[in-house]
Amino acid sequence: MTKIVELHHPLAKHHLAILRDQSTPPVLFRNQIRLLSMLLAVRATEDLSLTEFEIETPLTRMRVSKIAQRIAIIPILRAGLGLVEPILELIPDAEVWHLGMYRDEQTAKPIEYYCKLPKDNPAQVGFVLDPMLATGGSIRVAVAALKRWGVTDVRVLSVIAAPEGISALHQEHPDVSIYVGAVDQELNDQKFIVPGLGDAGDRIFNTRA
Ligand code: PRP
Repeated sequence: MTKIVELHHPLAKHHLAILRDQSTPPVLFRNQIRLLSMLLAVRATEDLSLTEFEIETPLTRMRVSKIAQRIAIIPILRAGLGLVEPILELIPDAEVWHLGMYRDEQTAKPIEYYCKLPKDNPAQVGFVLDPMLATGGSIRVAVAALKRWGVTDVRVLSVIAAPEGISALHQEHPDVSIYVGAVDQELNDQKFIVPGLGDAGDRIFNTRA
């Protein structure tokens, strides 16, 4: 069953406000993406499985837990790269598999230019990372690639999303869980999220024309 989670935490709202502001410079924009990635990751990992083992504290022995599942994170280049390091800090053993895609400016359809996903031996949980879920085209292609790899538990992490993109993703992949910082109003005629935050890739990498 699809799970669609939007962050309503006060810290998410606070950091989204700074992220959206057009006067926020790249150095701060990257930091906001980092903070929001962590908030998203905490929600998206709440039900991961644990395995127990024993350690010695300075006082006694005790049973403790660690993540049991093999986890992959899959950033969609370019903008998804902004979410990788903060999530790796939380899940240091995660594998990182890159997918390269950009949206054609005329058609708004995703063009794939790189796929590092292997053909077999899939991870148990796959997190697709992209700060923007606009039409959902790019993420739908990424989810399909993860499923071809054999991942059965696919979760999407996006900082902002348009309702149109969420429903298209949900329709095509009803089994996928979607975690977003905020669901915005709509897509405009150029298929940009409104009110949105502009182009996340350009703002992360300081390549605004
Ligand atoms: C943006 C964004 C998503 C995609 C979202 O990438 O980072 O990948 O568009 O749009 P969609 O939901 O309609 O597919 P962009 O094409 O700007 O490439 P970039 O990450 O290299 O900047």
